[in-house]
Amino acid sequence: MSNTERTFIAVKPDGVHRGLVGKIIARFEERGFKLVALKQLTASKAHLEVHYQDLKDKPFFPSLIEYMSSGPIVAMVWQGLDVVKQGRVMLGATNPLASAPGTIRGDFAIQTGRNICHGSDAVDSANREIAHWFKQEEINDYASPFINSWV
Ligand code: TYD
Repeated sequence: MSNTERTFIAVKPDGVHRGLVGKIIARFEERGFKLVALKQLTASKAHLEVHYQDLKDKPFFPSLIEYMSSGPIVAMVWQGLDVVKQGRVMLGATNPLASAPGTIRGDFAIQTGRNICHGSDAVDSANREIAHWFKQEEINDYASPFINSWV
């Protein structure tokens, strides 16, 4: 059991513009995960090109970078048991058409290019993404008796 696993979750510009930040945060809090870092920023294209480096040869890469740099995002680090996999389940499929109702994308999105949230897809990419978006001192390691005892 590893309650120290961490993932990088971001509300994308469309999610921020649509006022969905609070709802997305609430889902992770209610599920039992611990918020250990959060900030709002407008990411540069250069920063996003590194974040999405594995997709650089895809045809949708330029529009993805354009969309992601078009406005502020809310970047977060969430911690808890299996949070990387659980986070992906909570987000839903990349294409909202394949996302089950009850997932964030399945409840709030209708197209892949406007799918309102990001979540790391594996523990190693989570660690890489967290280090790319946050300085060590921006991540808060604190004890939560509620989470440690009951979740
Ligand atoms: P990807 O890493 O494959 O999905 P996920 O975000 O679920 O990990 O793709 C990154 C983002 O690129 C995705 O959230 C939306 C965008 N995208 C497109 O615009 N068109 C596409 O065909 C795909 C696969 C992704």
